[in-house]
This record gives sequence, C-alpha cells and structure tokens, in this order.
Amino acid sequence: MRDRVDASAGLVLRRWKAEDAWAVMTAFADPLMRGQSVEPVDSAQAAARWITARSEQWAADSAYSFAVVDGGGLVLGQVCVGPVDRRHATGWVSYWTTATARGRGVASRACRAVARWAFDEAELFRLELGHRVNNPASCAVARAAGFAVEGQQRQKLQYDGVRFDVELHARLATDTEPFPA
Ligand SMILES: CC(C)(COP(=O)(O)OP(=O)(O)OC[C@H]1O[C@@H](n2cnc3c(N)ncnc32)[C@H](O)[C@@H]1OP(=O)(O)O)[C@@H](O)C(=O)NCCC(=O)NCCS
Repeated sequence: MRDRVDASAGLVLRRWKAEDAWAVMTAFADPLMRGQSVEPVDSAQAAARWITARSEQWAADSAYSFAVVDGGGLVLGQVCVGPVDRRHATGWVSYWTTATARGRGVASRACRAVARWAFDEAELFRLELGHRVNNPASCAVARAAGFAVEGQQRQKLQYDGVRFDVELHARLATDTEPFPA
C-alpha cells in the first residue's frame, strides 16, 4: 500500500514525521481546531505524542493519517482515513488545514486524493464523514470531494454543553469521480 500520494496542484500526502511536531502544535493552536483531537495538542511533547499515535495507527492498519504538504514540504494540513472497518470495507474520513492554508482548495484536493487512495490502495468500498451543520466550509470540502449528503444525525456532538446536529456524507468506490477543481 503506497504511503505517499501526489495530489493536484503540487500537493503531496505523506506519512507524518517526528520533525513535523512544531507544525502540528502550531496547527492545533487555532481555536477552530477545537474538537479535532481528543487530547489537547498544546505543547511540543503533546504534538510528538500525536505524531507517534498516527504512526501506531498506520502500523495497526486501524487509521491512515497523511500530512498534506506543498511542493516545498510545508505542512498545510491533514487528511485521515480511519477508523477503518475491514469487515465491511468502510472508513471514516477527516481533515483539517492550517489557518494560513485555508480558502485555496487544499482540503478539497487532499480529500479527493485520499478518497481515491482509500479505494485503490486500501481497498475500501465506502467512505463516510460528518461535519457539524454550522461548519459550511467542511460541507463544501465534502461535496467537492464527491461525498454525497446522506442525512442529519441529530445532536450527535457536544461542545461546551451545546449539542450540535451533524450532517453525514459518504462516497462509494462505485461513485463517479468528482470533477477536478
Ligand atoms: C474545513 C476546512 C478543513 C476547510 O479547509 P480549506 O483548505 O479552507 O478548504 P478548501 O479551500 O478546499 O475549501 C473550502 C470551501 O469552503 C468554503 N467556505 C469557507 N468558509 C465558508 C463559510 N463560512 N461559509 C460557506 N463556505 C465556506 C470555500 O468557499 C470553499 O468552497 P469552494 O471551493 O466551493 O469555494 C478548514 O476550514 C479547517 O481546517 N477547519 C477547522 C477544522 C475542521 O473544521 N475540520 C473539518 C471537521 S468536520
């Protein structure tokens, strides 16, 4: 299974490295990243643990997290397929981009590329993702990457005592490849 993907516009998806710790810590300092990690990633040590955990997930074939980098190697974000369920050939997709990388198609391109990888390399059939209904940017990414809306899950998530509906999207291996941006 390849662990490096060349996406469009010069983006590369690759495994996380120990030297990405600073970039990871900086990315998680953004308030919009709240909820993207169970443990706070608020120190170099926490970022190193986050990277080690991603590596262990790869080794266990339970989740495949890629750093999204530009042609110069700058970390722009993450896309992840996992947890995966081998029995049903399904996987959960998630993504984030660094605050400075947003609004130029990075997440959409990376999500499209990781979906292709998941079907072709990881041999999954169905990919799912969900976003809070008050996260229109995430919805736009999902749609751009060919994930159809399947419905709303009522009050699935809770942040600071407030519950949020989540919109579920999914893409099948047999779905048409989305038109590239
Ligand atoms: C959601 C997120 C990954 C988007 O990353 P990005 O690299 O900016 O995404 P892209 O540039 O590929 O696309 C963003 C799309 O959202 C749209 N968008 C951005 N802000 C928006 C808003 N407030 N309302 C509506 N659409 C919005 C953009 O116009 C673009 O759509 P388009 O391609 O049709 O023009 C990024 O904002 C992020 O990391 N947020 C914090 C973590 C997060 O929410 N992750 C997803 C959890 S489900």
